[in-house]
Amino acid sequence: MKPLIIANWKMNPSNSKDAFDLAKAVVRGLEGVKADVVLCPPFVYVAQLLPSSNVFIGAQDCFWVQEGAYTGEVSPQMLKNLGCSYVIFGHSERKKLGETTEMTAKKTQAALLASLVPVVCIGEHIEEEMKSILKGIAPKDVSQIIFVYEPEWAISTQPHARPATPKEAQAAFKKMCSLLPKTTSLLYGGSVNSKDIKGFIEAGAQGALVGAASLDAQEFIQLAKNSISR
Ligand code: PGA
Repeated sequence: MKPLIIANWKMNPSNSKDAFDLAKAVVRGLEGVKADVVLCPPFVYVAQLLPSSNVFIGAQDCFWVQEGAYTGEVSPQMLKNLGCSYVIFGHSERKKLGETTEMTAKKTQAALLASLVPVVCIGEHIEEEMKSILKGIAPKDVSQIIFVYEPEWAISTQPHARPATPKEAQAAFKKMCSLLPKTTSLLYGGSVNSKDIKGFIEAGAQGALVGAASLDAQEFIQLAKNSISR
């Protein structure tokens, strides 16, 4: 199976030219590379980035209703109509801004309805978080969701951040797998770079959610290349 590397650009870069140039460099550098890559820019750049054969476009969040009087929100259907294929939910940075697991669960269901692939981040309380997400999902849809083990302390912008060890990731995957069908993809997230990606793939990750390292085109391209098992 091809690895899946998801770039979470967070609230970067600050202008659309830099966003366009970064995406262009990544698409060019990954031509013919046997990895699937998803670029998740801020909403305002989503429409200007074009997918290629192995580089898809995603978003970093969306609402749980498809249309209506919800000031400031963006719906899954709008993202789908713009050519998005993936959307990230439950990120610890959103949780700090008030997103609850119940909200993540509703967003996950709405994204599936709009035929987007939900990328759901799971932190320290693996079983509890996963059970509340899975509660509202039809069994046939569970394997459409991509789960990411992303402990908050591993995110590069946290004070004293350190990546999880491959062993820690493996233990988390084991817990996650016990609640999921075998065909579900599991990713690792938290301070991943081109040097440590291999260890996570060997520990059972199908790929990674990448923050800081996704803003440097050459580093990100190398990371995607190094995720391919030989
Ligand atoms: P990081 O971010 O790779 O910079 O740790 C990952 C994330 O927050 O999704």
